[in-house]
Amino acid sequence: MEQKPIRFGILGCGLAGGFHAAAIRAVEGAELRAVCDAAIDRARAFAAKYCCGAYGDIEAFANDEDIDAVCVCTPSGYHAENAVFLLERNKHLIIEKPLAVDLRQAQSIVDAAKKSGRTVASVAQLRCCKDVRRLKDILVSGVIGRPVSAQLSMIYHRDEAYYKDSGWHGTLALDGGGALINQGIHGVDLLLWLLGPVRRVSAAKATLRHDIEAEDTLAALLEFENGCLCTLSAATSVSHGQPRTLTVFGTQGSAVLTEDRLTSLVTEEGGLVIETGESAYLSHADPGAIPEQAHQNVIRDFCEALNENRRPISDVIDGCNALALIRAAYDATEKGPQTPVFTEREDRI
Ligand SMILES: NC(=O)c1ccc[n+]([C@@H]2O[C@H](COP(=O)([O-])OP(=O)(O)OC[C@H]3O[C@@H](n4cnc5c(N)ncnc54)[C@H](O)[C@@H]3O)[C@@H](O)[C@H]2O)c1
Repeated sequence: MEQKPIRFGILGCGLAGGFHAAAIRAVEGAELRAVCDAAIDRARAFAAKYCCGAYGDIEAFANDEDIDAVCVCTPSGYHAENAVFLLERNKHLIIEKPLAVDLRQAQSIVDAAKKSGRTVASVAQLRCCKDVRRLKDILVSGVIGRPVSAQLSMIYHRDEAYYKDSGWHGTLALDGGGALINQGIHGVDLLLWLLGPVRRVSAAKATLRHDIEAEDTLAALLEFENGCLCTLSAATSVSHGQPRTLTVFGTQGSAVLTEDRLTSLVTEEGGLVIETGESAYLSHADPGAIPEQAHQNVIRDFCEALNENRRPISDVIDGCNALALIRAAYDATEKGPQTPVFTEREDRI
């Protein structure tokens, strides 16, 4: 039976709103009906470009019955109040990362999602990449043995204008922190997805280059429940940065992920395999340099999840848990080693 298209709205017409709009346009079975921004001129400019309606007021936007699902692309500190408002009006949601800036806000989204019975995805676009899924299969199948050690490097460049011009980057209220929660969350989500829960985190942070409230440099040590020990570095304080790398060492081999590409795989049987192919991810140096496919994959998975009545690849609980690890790392910088407060998944959501 042919599926009805999913009719989307976008809340927040900035950089991420643009990724979502372009992705919705590219994905079969998705339609963009309207956008909304507190700055109505931005909404109008998007509406002209993407041929859809424009709202400057969330109330009218949320009551638009031609919208089934909303992509929440506002500054992170607004996600929770926006999400709860939209869930109370029965919209399905795709919420940009991080799900929220603290666990109380995140819990309010979980509660509203449960009450409404709507589907909530938390953007974690790397999970959809072919090589990332391949690394997950490698770990699940045991090809490199039991993971014992890992290194995650997310050393990025952001210039002064990135923090000064946005009005919210690097603020505790709206960004929730700095290099770890904003840029580093993609890698944090991958660690949890690939290696499972963390039982203890230690960390140190500093603000070494930028004039911001939050950290621009952070180092952490993660102890996973499976025994694996991992070092994590996140920064926006360097002048060029390097592509994100995640190296996982197992008892029988190792694998390196460079951005979204598996660039090295060493196994006992196959020796050394170096994969080729450049990643289109250049976001270590430029916040906008994210391949179009990234958000297309998120929109496609979400539409399939709605049509198949299954969970999205990264749901509201996954969003809570990435945030829980990040908040535990921040707490650890002040209070010493912490145990993250993860949320159990119930069958209903
Ligand atoms: N997944 C990714 O790779 C990715 C990349 C960039 C940003 N993001 C996330 O997307 C979100 C937005 O980031 P951005 O870079 O697009 O920010 P931005 O500053 O470019 O855009 C935010 C937009 O939201 C509007 N806005 C602010 N408050 C609003 C409100 N209460 N109601 C309606 N509109 C409001 C602003 O006018 C602005 O147009 C953040 O949570 C960020 O972490 C994710």
